[in-house]
Amino acid sequence: MSQPILSSRPSDEISDSEEPLLSGRIKQQIRRDKWTQLVLFVWAVVATVGVVVVSVFYQNAGNEPAQTKFPPSGKRNVIFMVSDGMGPTSLHVTRSWKQYTDDLPYDKTLFLDKHIIGTSRTRSSNSLVTDSAAGATAFSCGKKSYNGAISVLPDHSPCGTVLEAAKKAGYKTGLVVTTRITDATPACFSAHVNMRSEEDRIAEQQIGDYPLGRVVDLMLGGGRCHFLPSSTPDGESCRNDDRDIINEAQTKFGFSYVSNRAGFDTLHKGKNVSLPLLGLFAKTDIPYEIDRKDKDYPALWEMAEAAITALSDATKDSDQGFFIMVEGSRIDHAGHANDPVAQVREVLAYDKTFKKMVEWAEKSDVQTVVVSTSDHETGGLTAARQLHAEYPDYLWYPSVLNNATHSGEYLATQLATFPHLDDEKKLDRFIRKEILVEGLGVLDASEDEVKRLKDTKTSASYTLSDIVSRRAQIGWTTHGHSGVDVNIYGIGPALAKLSGNHENTDIGKFIRDYLELDLEAITKELTHKGIKNADEDLSWMGKSLADITENPNWITNQVDCYHGEFKREVRGVLHPCAHQPHPQ
Ligand SMILES: *[C@@H]1O[C@H](CO)[C@@H](O)[C@H](O)[C@H]1NC(C)=O
Ligand SMILES: *[C@@H]1O[C@H](CO)[C@@H](O)[C@H](O)[C@H]1NC(C)=O
Ligand SMILES: [Zn+2]
Repeated sequence: MSQPILSSRPSDEISDSEEPLLSGRIKQQIRRDKWTQLVLFVWAVVATVGVVVVSVFYQNAGNEPAQTKFPPSGKRNVIFMVSDGMGPTSLHVTRSWKQYTDDLPYDKTLFLDKHIIGTSRTRSSNSLVTDSAAGATAFSCGKKSYNGAISVLPDHSPCGTVLEAAKKAGYKTGLVVTTRITDATPACFSAHVNMRSEEDRIAEQQIGDYPLGRVVDLMLGGGRCHFLPSSTPDGESCRNDDRDIINEAQTKFGFSYVSNRAGFDTLHKGKNVSLPLLGLFAKTDIPYEIDRKDKDYPALWEMAEAAITALSDATKDSDQGFFIMVEGSRIDHAGHANDPVAQVREVLAYDKTFKKMVEWAEKSDVQTVVVSTSDHETGGLTAARQLHAEYPDYLWYPSVLNNATHSGEYLATQLATFPHLDDEKKLDRFIRKEILVEGLGVLDASEDEVKRLKDTKTSASYTLSDIVSRRAQIGWTTHGHSGVDVNIYGIGPALAKLSGNHENTDIGKFIRDYLELDLEAITKELTHKGIKNADEDLSWMGKSLADITENPNWITNQVDCYHGEFKREVRGVLHPCAHQPHPQ
């Protein structure tokens, strides 16, 4: 069992005797003399009378604003957005880069900037630095869990999610992402497994093969390989078994299915959708925005718009609206790769999507709340970097990010698949011209940088990102996540309820309360039916509790298999992973 490294209890369980340890303050008995008490008493009477008078006045004047009632009555939608791995610095860098590129004044900000309402504390139950699984479990269940947990608690029992509860309450439900639909964030709303790497099992649960049956009405994103049987030719499958989940989705659960841009276009921006709908547009991840071609892949904002059109249409005669989770999934990947070129375009695409969602919500005649936040920051991004011993200038250079035409990931693949890797002369020319000048827009590469690219020719992504980041004087402290608080954005009732600094679990609780959902009932149903389904220890949720307890390193090992080659190298334990979800 993974031991929490710090207390994971909520603050209301922290006793008075512990509080000085946490706050660094010693509670003192305050003695008040009688005069102070008398003054306080008189003040309390005056204040109470005042409040009564004012409230009577407002009631009589009919001035009480209806929207202050929480949750509001009537039909409601929730558009919940996750900017995976986007920290505060991502906003500064993207905003400044856009201002530079479009020659805008300094007060011309991103759309997100206009809707910031608070910040979120992101730690998980077993680490000060969360992963996306524990992060999304906080959003979906409103509870803290361990890194790697897909809507299961630290004791490996399943917790009911807002999506499942919304479905039960009559809402339509949707998930839209740019990574694999089986990746941690979307998985946490629609599946329960003990470790995020169980993506085959997540795919099965997402179409409805688990104790609750089908709960998702619409899924758009990547990750087709986890739905195709292992016998599929050309390496199109990454399943460990021969189940055809796409076929099961269609025949057993009634899904319609689209698998490419042409299929997406038949949806007519959501006006020609038959629910439930499964749209898997890439084998694994949809390419970064900077590499994405419109003719091959839909953009995040296109998928999100089609989804809310379809969901609002499907609920137009219903008393319940919809719940959708829309994720800018690959901001996180750009952070892991330390690639500022890719990241600013990912953030901009997310900003554009957020704008479209907010504008739709404000026009909709159904009350629609939009909330956007990140699960964590990725990369330890800083906007300034000291490259030499001398005291650095106070600056970084957005122009460098503008010169590049592709991400480091894309160029690394170009390099790794260059047909003349062993021909020193051809490789040299290719690196200098195609990779550095045409690809990265770097005209002044040093001989050392060319050599580093040759040395890492089959996995040059980190080297390429470093070449750009140094020139831009952008700093990174990690290829993993960091613990910094992340921003919360939103409109409507989110403003009052999520302003200020919050625990990430408050966001899940906000969605629950706004839609008046009963998560406990779902938890009970999962536990009850789950145990009935499988005699051996909730085995429908993947690796059983007994297995994990026997092998305490299992969780750490599996987490390392994500975004983890760097971490594994440093540890010097290159233990085998079930499979590598990221071929890069
Ligand atoms: C609408 O969707 C159906 C499948 O559900 C498809 O057969 C049809 O071609 C689509 N219509 C248009 C005009 O694309
Ligand atoms: C970016 O491109 C411009 C114009 O081609 C060039 O002058 C500049 O040196 C490039 N920046 C870098 C860092 O190579
Ligand atoms: Zn990540």
